[in-house]
Amino acid sequence: MGEMKVELGDRSYFIYIQKGLIRSVAQHIQTNFHPTSICIVTDSNVSALYLAPLQADFARLGLNVCSFVMEAGESSKNFSVLQQLCSFLIEQKFDRNSLLVAFGGGVVGDLTGFAASIYKRGIAFVQVPTTVVAQTDSAIGGKTGVDFGGAKNMLGAIHQPKAVYVDPDVLATLPDQFLSDGLGEVVKYAILAGGDLYDRVTALQSPTDFLHDDGFIIESCIGYKKYLVEKDERDTGDRMLLNLGHTIGHAVESYYGYGRYSHGEGVSIGLVEILRYAISYCSLRKDILHLITNLLQRLNLPIELPERNAAIFTSIIQDKKCAGQSIRIALPYAPGDVRIVSVQTEDFIQYLCSDHDTEGDL
Ligand SMILES: NC(=O)c1ccc[n+]([C@@H]2O[C@H](COP(=O)([O-])OP(=O)(O)OC[C@H]3O[C@@H](n4cnc5c(N)ncnc54)[C@H](O)[C@@H]3O)[C@@H](O)[C@H]2O)c1
Ligand SMILES: [Zn+2]
Repeated sequence: MGEMKVELGDRSYFIYIQKGLIRSVAQHIQTNFHPTSICIVTDSNVSALYLAPLQADFARLGLNVCSFVMEAGESSKNFSVLQQLCSFLIEQKFDRNSLLVAFGGGVVGDLTGFAASIYKRGIAFVQVPTTVVAQTDSAIGGKTGVDFGGAKNMLGAIHQPKAVYVDPDVLATLPDQFLSDGLGEVVKYAILAGGDLYDRVTALQSPTDFLHDDGFIIESCIGYKKYLVEKDERDTGDRMLLNLGHTIGHAVESYYGYGRYSHGEGVSIGLVEILRYAISYCSLRKDILHLITNLLQRLNLPIELPERNAAIFTSIIQDKKCAGQSIRIALPYAPGDVRIVSVQTEDFIQYLCSDHDTEGDL
């Protein structure tokens, strides 16, 4: 395993990937960034498992370190917790040369990055991601924010971290549900990137197989995300490819009130639906749908909606990628060949609502 540089001019940074890396994070930060103070921001689950040794590492080096622990879960990614964190930093007299350590999943990473982007007009932060979602996706690329006004990520900023430290060992303690959830995104990367990543991911027999991988899968996902971030830092073009399966996935999540389906489960259903659509729209090979559907099942992810109801899909019209009559979606022509195309919204929704000959497709 190793390191990769995200090339973004004066905002460039390294992503370090190494089993056991968490034990050298403090030393690395001290050597490379010389912060006046450090706040480790984390959640209740991660703190119970990993906070004490990390905080002790900083203290041992003589650094001024404190920690801020939020309740675990998406409901913490809000303005009120952001405000509490900022107030805490003021109390702790954090200055412009202080540094925040986002230590947790995507919730912690997004909120911490946003706090770092606004505190004293912007201070440094690093990411120490601890979920599959965070290690392969959310910790890289600088998208930060909180949910607001009933909408996800309504307030936010693009603020790149100074470094990302990925230690795959910490994934061992992830509850099964969150492991599978993240693997939905890994399958998405496999379809996007194709090639060796596609072969390695489609060979997984179970979620735990992923934990025993030699690092190739995580590194390849990170490499792909890095490539898209470098091409499109502000998410106006190619980065939209990361939405593969998400247009339908978000519709499913939101229709069932964000309670019934997790994000990864929505994405899993969304991937199956978009592959099915691609068979009719752009002649995607049917065996690919078959292979991916079986894979998602082995990873304990859902592949079918319980009902095929027009109301599920109408929220797609409110989707931000939907300009008037047409909608831009990431469409797989083949593994490794996913394109952003504009399709007629009405036709797309009509196709999704129609009964598919599932047996025939599969
Ligand atoms: N910024 C981006 O580019 C981007 C990309 C994708 C997702 N996101 C955001 O990420 C969030 C989802 O992230 P997530 O899936 O990591 O969720 P999460 O941060 O809620 O973590 C999932 C659960 O796992 C627990 N956990 C984390 N690490 C653990 C570990 N090592 N061992 C045991 N338990 C652990 C957490 O406490 C939590 O209960 C969403 O808010 C989403 O909007 C952001
Ligand atoms: Zn996603």
